[in-house]
Amino acid sequence: MTSSKPRLMDPETAVKTNSLSRKFGDLHAVKSLDITIERGDICGFIGPNGAGKTTTLKMLSTLLKPSSGSAKVFGYNVEANPAEVRRLVGYMPDQFGLYRDMVAGEYLDFFAAAYGLASAERRTIIGDVLELTDLKDKKEVPITALSRGMQQRLSLARVLVHDPELLLLDEPASGLDPRARIEIRALLTELSNMEKTIFISSHILTELAQMCNKVVIIEQGEVLFAGTVEALYEKLAPQIVVQIQVKENADRAEEVLKQTAQVESTERDEDSFTVTLVADEEDAAFLATRLIEAGIPLLSFTPEKAHLEDAFMRITEGKVS
Ligand SMILES: Nc1ncnc2c1ncn2[C@@H]1O[C@H](COP(=O)(O)OP(=O)(O)O)[C@@H](O)[C@H]1O
Ligand SMILES: [Mg+2]
Repeated sequence: MTSSKPRLMDPETAVKTNSLSRKFGDLHAVKSLDITIERGDICGFIGPNGAGKTTTLKMLSTLLKPSSGSAKVFGYNVEANPAEVRRLVGYMPDQFGLYRDMVAGEYLDFFAAAYGLASAERRTIIGDVLELTDLKDKKEVPITALSRGMQQRLSLARVLVHDPELLLLDEPASGLDPRARIEIRALLTELSNMEKTIFISSHILTELAQMCNKVVIIEQGEVLFAGTVEALYEKLAPQIVVQIQVKENADRAEEVLKQTAQVESTERDEDSFTVTLVADEEDAAFLATRLIEAGIPLLSFTPEKAHLEDAFMRITEGKVS
């Protein structure tokens, strides 16, 4: 086995899939996925459990064959050129895996050797990745004695030993406490500064939104959104739900609400209304003014903050196209 990296056939395109699909029996786990990740992107891969994230990442790392369609990594097809793809990719599975009765340094050495690195080279690289993941003083510590956060960092260190160009990380922050999560995030930012391309999955949108420049949202094997984080926020952010109760003139109130451009939907239950508004929280007050000016006395007017997570739920419920 060789440790030399293949020339990048398509240096600017880290991932390109074309109708990538995977079935398990009758279950269509990934359906006609078309995604593009450019070199240097930190792309979040977001979707609820069972959405098809792991299946997709496994196909990109050659561990699972597509049922149909294709995927390329820097121009190399995962089926036609698996050796090249494997050399360019660092895949971190969602579970730690075996080899638990080793110390951290042995564990890394095992993988570095598997990539054909010579002993002296391995020592240097293992020192570097331990330093990067802040595990230098854990080199002789058994893996089982490491905290979950440290194990996750060690798992990341492992996928770095062969200096991959593309990191495929499957829920690296799941099950971590907030502090360990911040450490992982800082580490990923550092890796991005080292010009690695990162494709990272999570079922929590807000966990990734701050560190990614792009996101792909997937549900039931289908892409619901793919684009920049800015475009996602634009699509999601300015929505707010207001609970309104009027003292009288409910019919008139309904008319006013329906005539208001920013009102996206109105649900009425006698004198009470649930109004979805395209506005942020501070801007919602204009609607109260408008109703009062139309001669409608208000008993209550309660804007509910539109959390990004709620918006994500709207997307994954298919209510936002
Ligand atoms: N080896 C398998 N055999 C059968 N079904 C599978 C297999 N792997 C995954 N699935 C199913 O495919 C769907 C997608 O799973 P997965 O890719 O693991 O989703 P995610 O990682 O987004 O939670 C799920 O319904 C899951 O049960
Ligand atoms: Mg998964």
